[in-house]
Amino acid sequence: MTMLQLLIALLLAIDLALGSRPLKSTSTPTLCETIVLGYGYPCQEYTVTTEDGFVLGLQRIPYGKNSSKNSSNRVPVLLQHGLLQGAEVWVVNSPLESLGFILADEGYDVWFGNTRGSKASQGNIYFSNQDPEYWNWSFEELAIYDLVSMLELIYNTTESRPHFIGHSQGTTIALVGLTQSKVTSLLSSVVLLSPVAFVNNITPPFTILLAHTYLEKFLASVGSNEFNPDTGVGAEVVREACKLQGIDCSTVLQVVMGDNSYINKTRFPDYLQFLPQSTSTKNMGHFAQLVRSGTFSRYDYGNPIENMKYYNQITPPAYDFSTYPRDFPLLMVTGGKDGLADVPDVQRLLPNLGNCKVTHIFKPESGHADFLVGTQAYTDVYVDVNNFFKSIPK
Ligand SMILES: *[C@@H]1O[C@H](CO)[C@@H](O)[C@H](O)[C@H]1NC(C)=O
Ligand SMILES: *[C@@H]1O[C@H](CO)[C@@H](O)[C@H](O)[C@H]1NC(C)=O
Ligand SMILES: *[C@@H]1O[C@H](CO)[C@@H](O)[C@H](O)[C@H]1NC(C)=O
Ligand SMILES: *[C@@H]1O[C@H](CO)[C@@H](O)[C@H](O)[C@H]1NC(C)=O
Ligand SMILES: *[C@@H]1O[C@H](CO)[C@@H](O)[C@H](O)[C@H]1NC(C)=O
Repeated sequence: MTMLQLLIALLLAIDLALGSRPLKSTSTPTLCETIVLGYGYPCQEYTVTTEDGFVLGLQRIPYGKNSSKNSSNRVPVLLQHGLLQGAEVWVVNSPLESLGFILADEGYDVWFGNTRGSKASQGNIYFSNQDPEYWNWSFEELAIYDLVSMLELIYNTTESRPHFIGHSQGTTIALVGLTQSKVTSLLSSVVLLSPVAFVNNITPPFTILLAHTYLEKFLASVGSNEFNPDTGVGAEVVREACKLQGIDCSTVLQVVMGDNSYINKTRFPDYLQFLPQSTSTKNMGHFAQLVRSGTFSRYDYGNPIENMKYYNQITPPAYDFSTYPRDFPLLMVTGGKDGLADVPDVQRLLPNLGNCKVTHIFKPESGHADFLVGTQAYTDVYVDVNNFFKSIPK
């Protein structure tokens, strides 16, 4: 045996001995290395494989730096990021402003989910990212596969049912997930920051335009399965649409989500270090369908015959809110200036949540990203999130 072979054998043996213990990530550095450890917080890496073969990376801040809150029975919380993002968004501001750190310091066991396609969740045991099958999913699969696996991992590791906090697409995943008993049986409560389900009253003109015309036209003509606005087909769609509309593409994020009220603009470069991350063109298409149809429905295969094959009806079925469990604790936080979780669409969503025990916090001045990275988020929202969790019996 050469020295190298010996080393590999040793590493393999250690790997096997560790069994189900936290795994060290072998791919690109995650938020543990790039952000969390640098602030002196503990941070651990996990992977979990979904039923359809995707290998998801999760990170965990098991406890904070506030020893007075360092109890032994820390309640787990899963934080789920939005579209074209990764979990970095939860820790990208300072520890006194970022929800990930704040919850850890408040005594929670904080877990960060990364859905398939994002930087921390690359890979599938059956397919390579060059295969069309690898990108054959939309937010529904993020709910029925990714969310289920992440919740199982947390439950199996901590022996407690976690709370869930989602932002934007993270809420879409939860709203689909709540129709699944596999999901609800593993959850203590759900917090929806800027909930996205009904989206036919969204306000950013550029996004409306993308959903109605450019997006699918271009996606169909190029035939790429991966969507990332920075590279490849995503960039072409955005460039073309910006050109035709005479929009300055350097502010495209702002243009897509609408204005925010409390974001410190000098930190934009920090945020853009982690954005955008990839999703599937099918997922973008599914969201575009919701904008056009005004429904919160399953993926539309485009014609009655195809839809018949999948759903036994000619149009895709709407997600069935009536299957939500009775009295399920749900906190919803919405903003009066949110262009994507806009006021009329939130008003349509609310009566559908009748099965749940809903608390609704409305902040008239807030936009789509303010509850995520706004400088007021702690006092405006996170204090209430903590109180909401505390109000839920174990
Ligand atoms: C919190 O508790 C963990 C073990 O449960 C311990 O390792 C850690 O040092 C404690 N942190 C503080 C800040 O007291
Ligand atoms: C730590 O906990 C104490 C007691 O609850 C609290 O007053 C203080 O603000 C907390 N500090 C941080 C940084 O979270
Ligand atoms: C995509 O998934 C659907 C089922 O949801 C399947 O019928 C179809 O053949 C798949 N297409 C590809 C390219 O994997
Ligand atoms: C969690 O535990 C259950 C029951 O032992 C098992 O069926 C499941 O595969 C486990 N899931 C994960 C992600 O560890
Ligand atoms: C905005 O962010 C910059 C860079 O982190 C910081 O120096 C400045 O104090 C922040 N301003 C406010 C109002 O938070």
